Amino acid sequence: MVGSGGREHALCWAIAKSPRCADLSCAPGNAGIAGLARCVDIGAGDVDGVVGFAAENGIDFVVVGPEVPLVAGLVDRLDDAGILAFGPSARAAELEGSKGFMKDLCARYGVPTGSYGRFTDVDAAKAYIRDKGAPIVVKADGLAAGKGVILCRTGGEAEAAVDKIMTGRAFGSAGDEVVVEEMLEGEEASFFALVDGRRAVPLVAAQDHKAAFDGDRGPNTGGMGAYTPAPVVTGDMAKTIMERIITPTIEGMAAEGRPYKGVLYAGVMIGEDGPRVLEFNVRFGDPECQPMVMRLKSDFLDALVACAEGRLDPAMLEWHDDAALVVVMAAKGYPGAYEKGTEIRGLEKADAAEGVVVFHAGTRADGGRILANGGRVLGVTARAATVADAQKRAYEAVDRIDWPDGFCRRDIGWRALGR
Ligand code: AMP
Ligand code: GLY
Repeated sequence: MVGSGGREHALCWAIAKSPRCADLSCAPGNAGIAGLARCVDIGAGDVDGVVGFAAENGIDFVVVGPEVPLVAGLVDRLDDAGILAFGPSARAAELEGSKGFMKDLCARYGVPTGSYGRFTDVDAAKAYIRDKGAPIVVKADGLAAGKGVILCRTGGEAEAAVDKIMTGRAFGSAGDEVVVEEMLEGEEASFFALVDGRRAVPLVAAQDHKAAFDGDRGPNTGGMGAYTPAPVVTGDMAKTIMERIITPTIEGMAAEGRPYKGVLYAGVMIGEDGPRVLEFNVRFGDPECQPMVMRLKSDFLDALVACAEGRLDPAMLEWHDDAALVVVMAAKGYPGAYEKGTEIRGLEKADAAEGVVVFHAGTRADGGRILANGGRVLGVTARAATVADAQKRAYEAVDRIDWPDGFCRRDIGWRALGR
């Protein structure tokens, strides 16, 4: 496993259950992953380090969690070394690595998304904004750790966003180009499919909460909680998303000589005229992955290996009918400045609650103590019959955790419960 977040802990948890998993290592992992895998001190972005470790240790299969090593070509390098890996090649990972590439691909293959322009010139971007009017969205083309999207209510805000990205270089070279895009309205959902190069099998859909504070207020974060199923993604809607979005995208990628393998994560906006893509990601969602794996009934490792080997079969994925929900606990101050090294107590009591797993994100062990070591620190995840029951269980477990330096939202799941 490559990565160190809550997503990677959840993936390790699911993979370690497989009878085919004889031995599991994680680069670099965290204090929670250390209970399931041998953690090795190699950064997730250290492509040479990961390839070297895998070759020297006779690793049979590598699962890549985050987007940065995928875009940097880790799977290509493992492939060259004859090591099977789950995740797209660098050329396929462009779907997340370049928003301009993604928009052009959608345009070429008729995948519904907002109208847009691509610009490498500040004045041309501003002229487009004046022509289209607000509200409008300005995005850095490249990877910006989830911060490169600026939703603008006025033309002035949008022109300032162009300056911030292109002139101020707020996201470095990720802002050499911008995409200026129509603001879409509706309800957002996270849709996931496993793809083996040709076939796509949908997974369960989820919804996340990006804002830091209750009532979806405050700055955007990597995600403060999530749940599955997503009531807005009915069975019919899932079919529509597969037909209009996922299938033409993977056919388009194959036609362009960039066959897609791995998990394809479509952020979709479901509005009056159906679903439209906001973004593609080439990895599992974090924190969506945490509740998703808790609903899995079948052997996840089998499905991931089959996907990498190009022989995925829908029968390999079976799910529990119930719901799951994750509450993220973050260090006070996140997504701004926060302290590291504060002690967290009560984790065993929370983990012992029925139907609950506490996935670690930014944690590190110090002797017998668990210390916070990042912004998003824990993902307290519960499975139960309904989203309401899962929410109750998750917050009961949260209340067993003694971490005065952390905070969480108290309303994860409100949209599903409001229906
Ligand atoms: P991204 O970094 O591409 O995941 O975008 C972050 C978030 O910005 C998305 O999850 C949406 O909530 C929002 N967003 C992105 N593009 C649009 C758009 N065209 N219209 C409305 N919201 C958007
Ligand atoms: N939860 C949003 C993401 O993983 O991008």
